[in-house]
Amino acid sequence: MQRVSTHEVSRGFLITAGPTHEPIDAVRYIGNRSSGRLGVALADEAARRGTPVTLLLGPTHLLPSRPGVDVVRFRTTADLERLLMERLPRCGTLIQAAAVADYRPAVDIASGEGGKLRREQRSLSLTLEPTPDLLAMCAARRRPGQVLIGFALEPLDRLRESALSKLQRKDVDAIIANPLGTMEAATIEAEIFLRGGGTWKTEGAMSKEAFAAWLLDRLPTIAPR
Ligand code: CTP
Repeated sequence: MQRVSTHEVSRGFLITAGPTHEPIDAVRYIGNRSSGRLGVALADEAARRGTPVTLLLGPTHLLPSRPGVDVVRFRTTADLERLLMERLPRCGTLIQAAAVADYRPAVDIASGEGGKLRREQRSLSLTLEPTPDLLAMCAARRRPGQVLIGFALEPLDRLRESALSKLQRKDVDAIIANPLGTMEAATIEAEIFLRGGGTWKTEGAMSKEAFAAWLLDRLPTIAPR
């Protein structure tokens, strides 16, 4: 196995991307429409620059095109939580681009019949429980010098207010705020809110690949907490 020096590990990126799938039974799940495209573009761009990068990638058909990206797959929020706890200590920068579920089925409602729910003539209720806030968990465990970045996908009229609240609530160094329509689009128009009060804004919409380069150019100027 190739050994990585402490210096390399501390400047390495840990990037999460894609949706989570929370199982309802053996064949059904609660998911979301994230494609993972932005996180994949960020991982490709980091690898292109020669930075060590691990991509924790959810259930999507997209894959990075650069061979240098270390890809680890996840399906559920619980999988992602375990991977983050394992990998966080070794990274320099975490970019949490994954669209993590806010709720998941609370109990296994289909333990009988081989794990598949059967249709019956009565209505069915699904009880959901909140998932843990993984980004806030990472922030609570951060080592000195680590930079943590999250996203806020919100309606346009609430972008600023919501990004500022997430910045504080999750205790991270930057929140990349973008409107709801970004989720399935090829382009992104974003405003980045920094700990300490600064902001960066893209000049209009750009492709997610161009945005990845734009963001990575600016990241070294973020001073960690
Ligand atoms: N996030 C996370 N764990 C969760 C939910 C979200 O790590 N259980 C991360 C997302 O990956 C993103 C950031 O937190 O980087 C903001 O996600 P968002 O869904 O907008 O925020 P929530 O914390 O879910 O808050 P709310 O939905 O109430 O606005």
